[in-house]
Amino acid sequence: MPHETAARLRGFGTTIFAEMTALATEAGAINLGQGFPDEDGPREILEAASEALLAGPNQYTPGRGTPELRAAVVAHAARWYGRELDPDTQVQVTVGATEGIAAALLGVCEPGDAVVTFEPYYDSYAAGIAMSGGVRRTVALRPPSFGLDVEALRAAVRGDAVGGRSARRGDGAGPARVLVLNSPHNPTGKVFTRAELEAIAEVCREHDLVAICDEVYEHLAFDGEHVPLATLPGMAERTLTVSSAGKTFALTGWKVGWVTGPPALVTAVATAKQFLTFSGHGPLQHAVARALALDDAYFSVARDRLRTRRDRLCDGLEAAGLTTLRPEGGYFAIGDVASIGEDDGAAFCRALPARCGVVGVPVSVFCDDPDLGRTLVRFAYCKREDVIDEAASRLAGLRG
Ligand SMILES: Cc1ncc(COP(=O)(O)O)c(C=O)c1O
Repeated sequence: MPHETAARLRGFGTTIFAEMTALATEAGAINLGQGFPDEDGPREILEAASEALLAGPNQYTPGRGTPELRAAVVAHAARWYGRELDPDTQVQVTVGATEGIAAALLGVCEPGDAVVTFEPYYDSYAAGIAMSGGVRRTVALRPPSFGLDVEALRAAVRGDAVGGRSARRGDGAGPARVLVLNSPHNPTGKVFTRAELEAIAEVCREHDLVAICDEVYEHLAFDGEHVPLATLPGMAERTLTVSSAGKTFALTGWKVGWVTGPPALVTAVATAKQFLTFSGHGPLQHAVARALALDDAYFSVARDRLRTRRDRLCDGLEAAGLTTLRPEGGYFAIGDVASIGEDDGAAFCRALPARCGVVGVPVSVFCDDPDLGRTLVRFAYCKREDVIDEAASRLAGLRG
């Protein structure tokens, strides 16, 4: 029998990020493909981690996470969103948001459960749904506004396109059981409005869905207000909220994340998580507890600095002739290469490193429908200003 990847994971081979990073290295290009900052987070937090490493303990933490980090997650939720959580039953610390999302899906999905998400979507959702035996269903967010189409959401949740009305839940064709939402959203930079979230919450309540809400960019909403789905009426009892230290504190390599929600759902996450990694990064959990307690100024300065970088990159993309969909939050901006006569974003991205020494990622890789983001390209602006300026001046070469 051939030794090969299990069928449910085929198609999740080498990611476009690996391909683009290899191209970037080969061409000495500026890598705006992947969303990691090129400056590390606050010095005092790095020092806290270093002290914790030397002071120890460097042993397994409790499975749910260190008491101090769970207490910090609870205090953070109370301070920013007025949420009241129990640190013992409503918090699970994870190895990044990625593990939190995977553990949430593994913990709540029965094989054949339909899971609805919006496309374009962050790539780990599709893999997490596949690993948990779920069946993915997507609702398009269409450019240029990426607005919510509530009727399309309702149809996807019911499973209209796959005969859902007559089918049973759990056979892949019936009504959905889980919804995965991400706001602020990668790759579009959309921040779902309160009205959109209320409409989504209504659908969740109507269909008794479990919502998994990825809020890793919660502190990086520039133009709109970030509203956690769990704070809307009737949502706390059905929502797992996932976040991590990576984006907020520019510490993406630390991979310290957390999931909060009602005790029964957090137990489902914990049950899966204990057999994925059990625990992780004890000394870093100590430092992240300190980071979550930083004063308000840290959060607003980090957001405002990123907003300036967003504007710098968007101005550069526009000067290069790309129509830009200015993001409301997160790490990424989208340029439409149709405006410079290109009709295929993936081919454009493959040629871009050699053409002008910059790397971007085609939005089509985040889509099930290849036409949805065909001419859109995602660029990261979580980079130093001089790097953004250099990328912008190289992109200016696109004008010929
Ligand atoms: C929307 C979204 N969710 C989750 C993650 C992963 O978070 P972590 O690095 O904490 O696993 C990312 C990273 O790019 C992301 O953009």
